[in-house]
Amino acid sequence: MADMADEAHRSDVLACPHCGLALLLSRSTATCETGHSFDRAKGGHLNLLIGGRLSSGAVPGDTPDALAARRRFLSSGGYAPIAAALAETVGDVDGAVLDVGCGEGYYTSHLRGTDRYGLDVSKRAVQMAARLLPDSTFVVGSAYRLPVQDHSLAVVTSVFAPHPLDEFARVLRPGGRWVTVTPGPMHLVEMRPTSDGTAGGKALDRQHRRASAPEGSTSARRLEFRLDLDDTTADDLFLMTPIRWQATARPPLTSVTVDVWVASGPA
Ligand SMILES: C[S@@+](CC[C@H](N)C(=O)[O-])C[C@H]1O[C@@H](n2cnc3c(N)ncnc32)[C@H](O)[C@@H]1O
Ligand SMILES: [Zn+2]
Repeated sequence: MADMADEAHRSDVLACPHCGLALLLSRSTATCETGHSFDRAKGGHLNLLIGGRLSSGAVPGDTPDALAARRRFLSSGGYAPIAAALAETVGDVDGAVLDVGCGEGYYTSHLRGTDRYGLDVSKRAVQMAARLLPDSTFVVGSAYRLPVQDHSLAVVTSVFAPHPLDEFARVLRPGGRWVTVTPGPMHLVEMRPTSDGTAGGKALDRQHRRASAPEGSTSARRLEFRLDLDDTTADDLFLMTPIRWQATARPPLTSVTVDVWVASGPA
């Protein structure tokens, strides 16, 4: 009978989150030469998040209902123009591409690379993404300490998710690029509790900051469009955005402004 170890191969991308050495992957585990070991979950993903606080009862990142709303909303095609702009900016990647804060995998599914990876701090998000894209590799991990080898990636993306540029520089190969999607100043303005013209100082600061191309980018395009909503899509959009924590209830809406930056920069 073939030994499981026979089937193990050294990952060109994934690294042990404890010591940074390349991971040796087999069907059921990932190990490093120091002896750290990680079990593969039933759905195939690896949990490479370290620091016990996040591991047990807590659900870091999106809550289950936010994730379900996100899956429904994104499948309805409301943000398809964003996915198309992301795919166009990333292009066909010759090498490994990693989607940081991949959520349930919608944007990851639009990336074309020879080797596709997704990472999120939320285990449930990673489970959903792994089920959606069985041909890609998904890991639970932190954007701020990526379980990824130095200079191993051609492209790193982050869509409405954390994007620490120093960490991206560490993992990108020479000539590699990062691509982010971030909110523009008018993004979902009708949904925000301050959209009645009495915007406070904080909201104005945010609008001002978002009016310029994202810091560090060498190329950025702003994508703006009006999105019609029915009650279901409006509810889902509200549930999946952080605005829900700032507002007591969803305002009545039949359309919203979508306004995002699709930006990129060098390693
Ligand atoms: C607004 S959601 C965007 C998800 C997905 N990119 C999309 O647009 O559908 C932000 C995502 O970032 C993840 N996230 C937040 N903090 C993170 C961190 N420190 N490391 C990795 N992922 C993180 C959340 O769990 C969540 O899935
Ligand atoms: Zn290790």
